[in-house]
Amino acid sequence: MEMPDNPEQKKKEEEFKKIEELHKLISEHSQDAILRLTPGGIISYVSPAIRNQIGFEPDELIGKYVYDYWHPEDLNGNWIKESNSDSRIIVYRLRHKNGHYIWHETHSKKIRNPSGDIQHVICIGRDITERIHSEELIRRSDKLSLVGELAAGIAHEIRNPLTSLRGFIQMYMKEDIDGTRKLRNDTMISEIDRINGIVSELLMLAKPSTDAYERRDMLQILDHVTRLFEGQANLYNVQIKKEFDDPLPFIQCQCSIKQVFINIIKNSIESMPEGGDVIIQARQINDHLNIRIKDTGYGIPHEELNKIGNPFFTTKDIGTGLGLMVSMRIIQDHKGTIRIESEVGKGTTVEVVLPIVNKRIL
Ligand SMILES: Nc1ncnc2c1ncn2[C@@H]1O[C@H](COP(=O)(O)OP(=O)(O)OP(=O)(O)O)[C@@H](O)[C@H]1O
Ligand SMILES: [Mg+2]
Repeated sequence: MEMPDNPEQKKKEEEFKKIEELHKLISEHSQDAILRLTPGGIISYVSPAIRNQIGFEPDELIGKYVYDYWHPEDLNGNWIKESNSDSRIIVYRLRHKNGHYIWHETHSKKIRNPSGDIQHVICIGRDITERIHSEELIRRSDKLSLVGELAAGIAHEIRNPLTSLRGFIQMYMKEDIDGTRKLRNDTMISEIDRINGIVSELLMLAKPSTDAYERRDMLQILDHVTRLFEGQANLYNVQIKKEFDDPLPFIQCQCSIKQVFINIIKNSIESMPEGGDVIIQARQINDHLNIRIKDTGYGIPHEELNKIGNPFFTTKDIGTGLGLMVSMRIIQDHKGTIRIESEVGKGTTVEVVLPIVNKRIL
């Protein structure tokens, strides 16, 4: 016999109905799939969100063994029966009705009765396939940009010696042979050796730089570097003026320090397509070596000054925008500093300051 008239019973029924509605509202509309499993892993309830995630209708899944839908590689024992922990968060692959797998993140909880036996397992699972893929993409593009940076850096290092070789060859084409041929031939050979050196470094990229710190004569280094540019300077009607203290101190440095001056002087010459002067000053100031490379080129606009040295910042058609970045890094390794001053239309001065460790022994 029904008891519709019992007010207490009626109130309970209404309350129950409200809870049921709320439960339905949550489980039917949640983007996350809500599952209830028996202690044996059989699906006894699944919310409609599962349809969007793996293509099955809830009815198709009721009564099925949940682990049958997992990727075999992600199965790792039977958590419901074998694990002592009552809750877990797990990321695994779930099979879609079409046969492919999606990445799922599931929060699960065992529900026990007062005597401690498992009654149900409640799971809330979300499709995280996109998140996993975009994380993978970020990892891959990080690697790619590193490889790109390395490759571009190497191309840059190879192009500098080629530029000076090219300058000489163009000169040969223009002028008659004279007695200074030997020096130029030697320079060309040493440049070719340098290219070879860089290429073999490419093969050892995985290892850290083996370029040793040694006491080197800065006068000799700067002389050598300026000689490299004779051909190019001549071609562009650029005068290179040297104002070096003699003697200059020896500096504890890597061979790569040469590259810094090559990059800076190359920029100076490139800033004067119509010709001009490059003045290279080198002098000792207390326990530092101060080297200034001054040009009378087109200069750098104020708003571009702070972008210089960023990888790939270039205003040149064929520039890689790595020259000064590489230089800054080398100078930093040597505990020195680089400062750039520039005025548009007047010229640019780059100042390199290096600490002197050993004084020249005469
Ligand atoms: N002496 C200079 N005069 C005018 N602009 C300069 C000078 N030195 C550098 N710059 C500016 O700074 C930018 C970056 O120089 P950086 O040497 O790093 O790269 P790049 O010369 O463009 O290319 P790369 O050296 O790789 O061939 C140049 O594109 C140029 O705009
Ligand atoms: Mg440059």
